[in-house]
Amino acid sequence: MKRGRDRAKQRAGESAAAEVESGMVVGLGTGSTAAAAIRRLGERVEAGLDIEGVPTSHQSRALAREVGIPLTSLAAATPDVAIDGADQVADGDLVKGGGGAHAREKVVDSAADRLVVVVDAQKESDVLDHPVPVSVLPAAEPTVTAAIAERGGEPTLRAAEQKDGPVVTDNGNLILDCAFGGIDEPASLAADLDAVPGVVAHGLFVGLADVVHVGHTDGVDVRRP
Ligand code: A5P
Repeated sequence: MKRGRDRAKQRAGESAAAEVESGMVVGLGTGSTAAAAIRRLGERVEAGLDIEGVPTSHQSRALAREVGIPLTSLAAATPDVAIDGADQVADGDLVKGGGGAHAREKVVDSAADRLVVVVDAQKESDVLDHPVPVSVLPAAEPTVTAAIAERGGEPTLRAAEQKDGPVVTDNGNLILDCAFGGIDEPASLAADLDAVPGVVAHGLFVGLADVVHVGHTDGVDVRRP
């Protein structure tokens, strides 16, 4: 029996998976809520759904293989839709990167014709105030740290668990989790972060979401920002 929050994530993921039709190329997001969508897509593939997936991480690739979703890449296909989770949602804008996969997620989610976001209700907020993960070239960590502090942020180098030292992403970068307090103008902060040399990608996804499936223990709200 799943606990409440896990059940809500599962409902959101499964609801988003129902939007997928045969013939589609699907961006496969990362994290526990996107994983629920991938598992449901795997069940639908077994039942005859004809799709190809573009993974956003080592995790989503491995899971897609496990559940039998054929894979392709951005070199071969453009996703019709991407299904991805988030750490926080406000007005359709997102903070992502809790699992450190935001760089590839942003590439795939931006390339897709539609981005379907899947979250549980606890992720909804009036204003984004979750720390923003910023992945950086390892050599640029000191200069990016200084630039973020100058912009009013408080960066913390993400530490690895079960390994000494920092998290190293699937792409070989480090992650600074940057607290900015309430982010009143996410587009402006996103542009500032994009302009810092050495920043590979940050977890602010502004204006990308087409629809948000918000899971509750007893149902799903579908919001169109
Ligand atoms: C991965 O880096 C993230 O962007 C995830 O999509 C985000 O952290 C949401 O994860 P959960 O669905 O596990 O909460």
